[in-house]
Amino acid sequence: MKATAIAHSNIALVKYWGKRNGALNLPAVGSISITLDALSTTTNVEFVPGLNKDQLFLNDIQVEGKEQIRVQNFMNLVRRESGIKNYTVIKSGNNFPTAAGLASSASAFAALALAGTTAAGLKVTKKDLTILARIGSGSAARSIFGGFVEMHKGIYKNGSDAFAEPLADENYWDLRVLIAVTSESKKKIGSTDGMTQSKKTSPYYRNWIAASPKDLSGMRAAIKQKNFTKLGEISEFSCLKMHALALATTPALIYWNGTTVDGMHLIRELRGKGSEVYFTIDAGPQLKAICQAKDEHKIKRELEALPGVVRVISTKIGGPARIIGESV
Ligand code: PMV
Repeated sequence: MKATAIAHSNIALVKYWGKRNGALNLPAVGSISITLDALSTTTNVEFVPGLNKDQLFLNDIQVEGKEQIRVQNFMNLVRRESGIKNYTVIKSGNNFPTAAGLASSASAFAALALAGTTAAGLKVTKKDLTILARIGSGSAARSIFGGFVEMHKGIYKNGSDAFAEPLADENYWDLRVLIAVTSESKKKIGSTDGMTQSKKTSPYYRNWIAASPKDLSGMRAAIKQKNFTKLGEISEFSCLKMHALALATTPALIYWNGTTVDGMHLIRELRGKGSEVYFTIDAGPQLKAICQAKDEHKIKRELEALPGVVRVISTKIGGPARIIGESV
């Protein structure tokens, strides 16, 4: 009745922003990501008789409020599926400082989905696991797999076709991601609230949805051909489009700080000087640079030298979520 799972975070090259259904957390667009080896969450789930709610501990500190409710709602799905009535003790830890503004719901819900279903004795396919993880957090579905992963938006109302699947594993292509941390404070507007506002108010929302299939097919081809230039160009384009949509939301979602913008200029400058590197940015101020293994050290030094960069975390492409301990 207990299990421990580890899952890695991921970064979308073709971004997801917008939901076609909020309750089931169905994405309005598909997305393609790479799993990040260096950033992971390890989660232990144990069903314990006699508890009156799920107890959640993050890095040894008990968490109450919104986060606890979100996790309990998620565990209710596992209880419904397994018929188990007991609540759980959930101990979760990140291998990166949580205060770093990198806390990732992707690795968290992927690890929780795997540890929770395993502790409950459920036999679920990988596909169904991604569907479950998606209900916790859209990007979490992609963290079930290693390497290059596509999340399908699906068209069914019940979400049965909104799942993630691998395009290539973590050994397929030796790319690196350099995460330039530019701020350690918590983000002000979470992705769910941001997406709701963008859908309601951003004049670019319809075009964002309409343009998505082209980015997805281009990225699939870039991965298949190992065409790094194409992968990088589509990544930057998708990132900037997502932020254009966010910036044109009311109230405006400005996730960047000055250093994020300086970082984008730096990356473009380096490219002008012959280093192949591209950026991508999620709903926060950290800048992620994507490059080939041969350029990793040079780009890392350049990013570290940029005023305002707190530190740079370098990572390879990571593997799938997996169980690291289990007992009845
Ligand atoms: O999984 P969520 O709800 O935290 O949304 C993730 C949104 C982005 O990180 C900005 C883009 C993406 O595809 O991961």
